[in-house]
Amino acid sequence: MKNVMLLTGAGQIGMAIARRMGYGMKIVIGDKKRENAQVVAKIMNDAGFDAVPEEMDLSDRSSIRSIIAKAQKYGDISMMVNAAGVSPSQAPIEAILKVDLYGTAVLLEEVGGAIAPGGVGVTISSQSGHRMKQLTPEEDEQLACTPTEKLLELPLLRPENIRDTLHAYQLAKRCNEKRVMAESVRWGEKRARINSISPGIIVTPLAMDELNGPRGDFYRNMFAKCPAGRPGTADEVANVAELLMSAKGAFITGADFLIDGGTTASCFYGPLKC
Ligand SMILES: NC(=O)c1ccc[n+]([C@@H]2O[C@H](COP(=O)([O-])OP(=O)(O)OC[C@H]3O[C@@H](n4cnc5c(N)ncnc54)[C@H](O)[C@@H]3O)[C@@H](O)[C@H]2O)c1
Repeated sequence: MKNVMLLTGAGQIGMAIARRMGYGMKIVIGDKKRENAQVVAKIMNDAGFDAVPEEMDLSDRSSIRSIIAKAQKYGDISMMVNAAGVSPSQAPIEAILKVDLYGTAVLLEEVGGAIAPGGVGVTISSQSGHRMKQLTPEEDEQLACTPTEKLLELPLLRPENIRDTLHAYQLAKRCNEKRVMAESVRWGEKRARINSISPGIIVTPLAMDELNGPRGDFYRNMFAKCPAGRPGTADEVANVAELLMSAKGAFITGADFLIDGGTTASCFYGPLKC
């Protein structure tokens, strides 16, 4: 038996974190697109890791339970990395809410029940959640604590109250941050830790869909004018994950880390004004 890392989302960010943290572990890689999981598993196995690909759907509780059960056959799940998701240019409002918001909430809940004592997880949120206007304290609490099966019934999340896919994505990512806070209390009962990372524009296939989509100019302007003056890389997100998931992060849980080259700062108080 081995220590197991459960990686959901076989994309660039997920792979970068798995490569940084997963050496010596059994890495169970789930993705809705089986071929994505297979490609990443092959790249990692060819580089000396021990990875196995699985098809899974983050928006489906039974699929999440199934991959957890498969992962536990290899040993205790001591690490979770959630980097599965869809972006505003990839999916309609309902799908963004079902995958990014509801699916992430279910995963945190289900893995929270399965994580080994002292285990650690990260989920990838987004700067988008930080750029959205503040919600009321009551709305924040609803996003944090509403039972998962009731989440999508919240008035705040009804499709008629959501302007467009970007707004849906922002709400989903704000919800990720709030869920992590609430779940960290439950994970803490096993001295396990869970945090989120909110990246800015990171060059990946998902970001390329945004840059080639209807908001392409908006995003190009964003990274050109942010204090860093460029987009980020998945390996830079892995730098933050390494802090959070290693012993150096032992006192960090229930927190969200913004890594956006200063984009949010410039949106609020600089020239970006987005
Ligand atoms: N790239 C960026 O600029 C950026 C910025 C902020 C946040 N993020 C977030 O980072 C996460 C990872 O994105 P990435 O940039 O590495 O993209 P990516 O396209 O490289 O990977 C995303 C993966 O998620 C998978 N996926 C989509 N829906 C799924 C579902 N229902 N179940 C299981 N898997 C599913 C896709 O098939 C894909 O393999 C996403 O949550 C995204 O919102 C990305």
